[in-house]
Amino acid sequence: MSALIIDGRAVAASVREEVKARVGELTALGARPGLGVVLCGDDAASATYVRLKGQVAEELGIRVDERRPPADSSTEAIREIVLAMDEDDGIDGILVQLPLPAQIDPDAVMAAVRPDKDADGLHPLNFGLLAQGAPAPVVSCTPAGCMELLRRSGVPTRGSRAVVIGRSAIVGRPMAMLLVNADCTVTMCHSRTADLPAVCRTADILVAAIGRPGMITADYVKPGACVIDVGTSSVDGKLRGDVDRASVEPVAGWLTPVPGGVGPMTIAMLMHNTVSLCAARRGSGQPPTRP
Ligand code: GUN
Repeated sequence: MSALIIDGRAVAASVREEVKARVGELTALGARPGLGVVLCGDDAASATYVRLKGQVAEELGIRVDERRPPADSSTEAIREIVLAMDEDDGIDGILVQLPLPAQIDPDAVMAAVRPDKDADGLHPLNFGLLAQGAPAPVVSCTPAGCMELLRRSGVPTRGSRAVVIGRSAIVGRPMAMLLVNADCTVTMCHSRTADLPAVCRTADILVAAIGRPGMITADYVKPGACVIDVGTSSVDGKLRGDVDRASVEPVAGWLTPVPGGVGPMTIAMLMHNTVSLCAARRGSGQPPTRP
């Protein structure tokens, strides 16, 4: 057996086409979607992601308002920028790129984002709705992108066993909630999990969001499982995932590659969230939809 390689670039391109059509409809109604972006600090990867996000937004017709406060900014200074974006009627989605410099309290900044402009789905209210199993208007972009890859690749979720490795607020935790909401039986693993390979081998769907390049080998994978690789480590200037592809590909049923798997979906889902928030707040009045 050799895994079916899930083409995240192709899926992301089709999500972007759908978003572009919705941007056209909203713009015709006089409600061109706008995305506010805050990038603070000297993290090179963050600067690259923000540049890509801006490029894609503009390709889709979304207006971008980008702020780059100095790296030594205080929590209050970043909150002020966010609060001004909250009040700006032309901004529908707000993205504060993480990580923020160490002196800034990320929770205080995220809590300043209006829940109905929370393009990242990281506000406690939106996260809480997701945790309650209520229809959350927006969901954190990377896990939302992973779910879209599962859906569009026909990977069954109802009754499936899923294992998520990583417990971050931005990927692991919302990913586990989304899988539960999709009727999976979910186990969350982390750096203190005992006998991680054995737990992972129970998974029909294995999501690796650890940040350790190549750690997941065939030993961790049940034959035929779907393996979603969220890793984005830089090794010798090259992007590497958490999965050792050469080892896992002969065993898995499906596999997302790095690059070209989850990464393009994160950006596409950010655009989707921004347009959904625009439609809900000042456009057609339609509630946000799935892509
Ligand atoms: N840093 C890495 N990924 C993300 C993301 O999805 N959103 C934000 N705000 N920061 C990130």
